Amino acid sequence: MTETASLPVVRSVADLRAAVRDWKRQGLTVGMVPTMGALHEGHLTLVRKAARRADRVVASNFVNPTQFAAHEDLGAYPRRQEEDARLLAATGCHLMFAPAAEAMYPEGFATSIAMTGPALGLEGDFRPQMFGGVALVVTKLFNQVQPDIAVFGEKDYQQLMVVRRFVRDLDLPVEIIGAPTQRDEAGLALSSRNAYLSEADLETARKLNLILRQAADAAASGRPLPGIERDAYAALLKAGFERVDYVAVRHAEDLSPFPNGIVDAPARILVAAWLGKTRLIDNMAI
Ligand code: PAF
Repeated sequence: MTETASLPVVRSVADLRAAVRDWKRQGLTVGMVPTMGALHEGHLTLVRKAARRADRVVASNFVNPTQFAAHEDLGAYPRRQEEDARLLAATGCHLMFAPAAEAMYPEGFATSIAMTGPALGLEGDFRPQMFGGVALVVTKLFNQVQPDIAVFGEKDYQQLMVVRRFVRDLDLPVEIIGAPTQRDEAGLALSSRNAYLSEADLETARKLNLILRQAADAAASGRPLPGIERDAYAALLKAGFERVDYVAVRHAEDLSPFPNGIVDAPARILVAAWLGKTRLIDNMAI
């Protein structure tokens, strides 16, 4: 175990388990915030939320290779664990778990998780490996930490629905708590991938919020969804996004489409669009 600005950083499952066992022996509850590091205010809000709900908070910091396809940004994904540990220490986190890839996926690792339900469509269409990898690593992290609660951001809304589903399906003994998306003053959702954006790209990215808001308001007023989705798609391209993977309105609970094309139940609008080599996702309640 090492210490960074008074935050213990553990890298082995054995050290992690020893720390958690000690807390549980004292009757303390444990909260967890799974992350891939490059922490920003969005992650820190999740940590604060976990700290309000549990006596001790573990943040994991692991860039999970199984959720990236070969052509994606695994190698380029920002890594700054020392700074992350300092931020976590100042935010009420009690331990950072930062395993090496070989500790999570040792030679001969042979297990995968396949999901349907909320994992299908949207991100599932464009990043088919993503939710299997997320389900695998988060299940491992839950088995390693054995938290009472875990907090996930609504920024990755489909991921939150996927996590809720496999936790239910696999009877994992952890309560999943969602936390609202943190945005900058112009409404841009905070994301580790924003670090890739130039000033000009940031200006374009900040237009996403208004386009989503207008589409969400139109859907709430009962306008047919195909027209709303088409208009939002066109508005994103006009704003300067180079490519739009999807802009779609779905049921908030299970992400299924509205078969009659009108919002008649709690809904969510979700979008993925590209600025240069950077893919941004966002979503909003309707
Ligand atoms: O949201 C993320 O940062 C990742 O998908 C997660 C949940 C930490 C799993 O690697």
